[in-house]
Amino acid sequence: MAIRRVGVLGAGQMGLGIAQATARAGCETVIAKATGGSLDERRGKVEKAFERDVEKGRLSAADHGALLERLRWTTHLHELANVDLVIESIVEDLPTKRQLFRTLDEIVNPEAIFTSNTSTLCIAEIATAVERPRQARFLGLHFFNPVHAMKLVEVAPTVRTAAEVVSVMVEFARALGKAPVVVSDSTGFIVNRLLVPFLVDAIGSLERGIAGIAEIDAAMQNGANHPMGPLALADFIGLDIVFHMATNLQEEYREARFAPPPILRRLVVSGFLGRKSGGGFYDYSKTPPVPNDWILLRRLA
Ligand SMILES: NC(=O)c1ccc[n+]([C@@H]2O[C@H](COP(=O)([O-])OP(=O)(O)OC[C@H]3O[C@@H](n4cnc5c(N)ncnc54)[C@H](O)[C@@H]3O)[C@@H](O)[C@H]2O)c1
Repeated sequence: MAIRRVGVLGAGQMGLGIAQATARAGCETVIAKATGGSLDERRGKVEKAFERDVEKGRLSAADHGALLERLRWTTHLHELANVDLVIESIVEDLPTKRQLFRTLDEIVNPEAIFTSNTSTLCIAEIATAVERPRQARFLGLHFFNPVHAMKLVEVAPTVRTAAEVVSVMVEFARALGKAPVVVSDSTGFIVNRLLVPFLVDAIGSLERGIAGIAEIDAAMQNGANHPMGPLALADFIGLDIVFHMATNLQEEYREARFAPPPILRRLVVSGFLGRKSGGGFYDYSKTPPVPNDWILLRRLA
């Protein structure tokens, strides 16, 4: 089965990255902002990225025009009726994702494959929101941030996913220039099962006053050769996403190593979501960003 038309749900950091990747790979792509509202700011962001590519000679003027034509923006789910593949990338919340898929199941071509970019929710639990025949065409398709730079895609079938659909998704990921890895429908798949305890431990180290933000990040950059420190990485991922991942992993496995540190919850409910909100462990209104050392001083936890 050839994937020519793709519908991407969610115009957040991941949805925008995925839609750009599918459009660049030649797929007609409809990006739907599932919460409604204006698309202009989101569209402007993507178009600026394309223009930068033209300026830097990474994209020809002709390809640029074709790319813009392949990428359509909407707030109406009905515009996804004829897609071959749905990639859902909205907020990491099970009832919200299930509700969206229930609606899409009624609208979208019955042959279309449904996928979720969830990081830590159970794919089978999302999949049961759709009718039984579609469940054979439902699986996890987990991209990494930033999508244009990260090669891995975790392809996660449920016990009901048809083998042929898994092969189609592996080929599709390769066509996007990615390196797919098939993994069972298991909370956190491979990467987040290993990465989240590391992030949780870094935040816990800050909370316990072992070292400051800059020191923790510098230590892992210079001592373990990580390209960015764990607190900068948590900001980059989004502290709300890290919080949801840690909560979901802990609920699933009941292991203390996944438990979100108290300070993380307090930052998230206070609107410190990391880079995307302008502040988290670092203050992004400054160039370069400066560590928010008040987190340690005020001991929010
Ligand atoms: N951030 C990462 O590094 C990363 C990596 C891989 C996968 N993911 C997964 O991708 C998904 C999206 O994450 P993101 O980082 O793009 O988040 P984001 O906060 O940037 O975007 C979330 C999107 O969900 C939409 N949304 C919010 N509430 C909604 C609702 N009630 N109904 C419908 N849509 C709603 C928002 O409008 C926004 O477009 C999540 O499932 C996350 O776990 C994130």
